[in-house]
Amino acid sequence: MTDFLRLAEDIAREAGEMLIAKRPTMSAEIATKSSPTDVVTALDTASEQLIRERVGAARPGDRILGEEGGEAPGDSDVRWIVDPIDGTVNFLYGLPDWAVSIAVEVKGQVVAGVVNVPARGEVYTAALGAGAWLGGVPLRCNSGVPLAQALVATGFGYSVARRAVQGEVVAAVLPKVRDIRRGGSCAVDLCSLAAGRVDAYYERGVNYWDFAAAGLVATESGARLDGLRGRPVSPEFALCAAPGLFEDLHDLLVSLDPERDA
Ligand code: IPD
Ligand code: CA
Ligand code: CA
Repeated sequence: MTDFLRLAEDIAREAGEMLIAKRPTMSAEIATKSSPTDVVTALDTASEQLIRERVGAARPGDRILGEEGGEAPGDSDVRWIVDPIDGTVNFLYGLPDWAVSIAVEVKGQVVAGVVNVPARGEVYTAALGAGAWLGGVPLRCNSGVPLAQALVATGFGYSVARRAVQGEVVAAVLPKVRDIRRGGSCAVDLCSLAAGRVDAYYERGVNYWDFAAAGLVATESGARLDGLRGRPVSPEFALCAAPGLFEDLHDLLVSLDPERDA
């Protein structure tokens, strides 16, 4: 596992350095994905390509699932889950909360995760059952925070119809908590939770590559990460907080039916 973590960290650092070096000259190369706000730059592809090449060279045969290139087949039990830039809009606008996210799965379970936030100079790492760290310092999420005092991070998907529901839900959550944060990167949000910079996080519609690595950082810091109504975390719904706050925010969210159609 240590070998996986070291390799993932080396690769995430190299991708982050490349992105920092090339960002200003490449930022005009904007394409669109599912809607005009879903911007993707040539650097998304370049970052993922770099990561695929490095993983392929070090671990030939491992499978790789990346946001931009999809699933590359392989014959090993190991699969790498990659978001080459999480927080693309922040990246384009020069805001610091974007990340290179790399998780390593063995037989379907994430065992190592690295989230490199280059513009902050922060690298979050986690190993299953061993802990989560920021720059080598162990992380513990906040605990014992009542719902009314909770700083809650959330995000909004790219689908306009779904955003309307997300707006209604967050409007109803806002009066019940300390405040809301919309950081712009699911991976950074979950790492911020692990570092005690927010108390909770929820979002509908995040993809596996958004939370695979940072989810391990959060759970290894002591948080619970699941879906609603007893379901595991999935693109349907992600909710994360220390036990206690998790259940209180869960019940509030369920009462607002956040998974409904617009
Ligand atoms: C997005 C970010 C954002 C979240 C969206 C994601 P991308 O990923 O994580 O915070 O709200 O749901 O799609 O497109 O920047 O890789
Ligand atoms: Ca993402
Ligand atoms: Ca991305």
